[in-house]
Amino acid sequence: MTDQYAVIGNPVAHSKSPRIHTLFARQTQQDMHYSTLLAPLDQFQTAVRDFFVQEQGKGLNVTVPFKQEAWQLCNEHSDYALHSGAVNTLLYRDDGSIWGANTDGLGLVRDLQQNHAIALHDKKILVLGAGGAVRGVLQPILEQYPQQVFIANRTTARAHELVTLFGQFDVLDGGGYGDIPKTGFDIIINGTSASLQGDLPPVPAHCVVDAECCYDMMYSSESASTAFVQWALSHHVPRALDGLGMLVEQAAESFFIWRGVRPETHTVLSVLRAREPQI
Ligand code: ATR
Repeated sequence: MTDQYAVIGNPVAHSKSPRIHTLFARQTQQDMHYSTLLAPLDQFQTAVRDFFVQEQGKGLNVTVPFKQEAWQLCNEHSDYALHSGAVNTLLYRDDGSIWGANTDGLGLVRDLQQNHAIALHDKKILVLGAGGAVRGVLQPILEQYPQQVFIANRTTARAHELVTLFGQFDVLDGGGYGDIPKTGFDIIINGTSASLQGDLPPVPAHCVVDAECCYDMMYSSESASTAFVQWALSHHVPRALDGLGMLVEQAAESFFIWRGVRPETHTVLSVLRAREPQI
């Protein structure tokens, strides 16, 4: 029987994951089917169990708003998931236990470093936002030995919480937008959900003067670039990138966890880009 996979979320109909994993499966000749699974907001755990037990599901991707609930459901976690408190990949094991991973951070780092040749080592990095999305990517960023990582958030206490949580990395600091050091940054990563409403986080223009890259973890499904990418372009930042590459790279890592085969991502990204705005 064909192995079943899905992305679970609410809403989830807009997800690009079925297309990405179907392309991966075709490319690597894996006998699998990948669909969307809409879970009622108060029925996440039941929906996961039903998928694994009744539908013979082998794995799930988890998207908004269930990543933290997914973390609680797991019997075991990958190292990145353990520290981030959020899970985007579930593996159903033969003994009925659930293993959870977070591949978002690896996806971001691979997209920056491998697809765009932007090294994080020794760089000054400004991260905007301190919600679940940022929590999920901090460790892989910090493991690249940047010179400095500053987390700026509207609610200052949440930035401080993350600094404490990842306290073993002494290059990490954080605060409100008014606390951002005036020394300039090489890379600015937008991990706020402001783009979803077409908003911009209130990042001061002095941050961007020397920046080589602005990266929006969100991507646009419309024909226009995200508000943050447009902001970066208007400040003449050499590389203004959205998160479509991160989406494909995190998917490739999930696929590898499930199938033990690493798909090639460039052609899949090209297929998606053909339907997306060019940046
Ligand atoms: P996610 O899982 O997508 O990260 P979240 O945990 O709700 O969702 O976090 C959303 C992040 O975007 C937070 O950092 C939020 O700032 P607050 O912690 O102050 O709420 C940030 N955010 C959302 N809308 C924003 C806006 N218009 N301007 C600045 N930051 C915004």
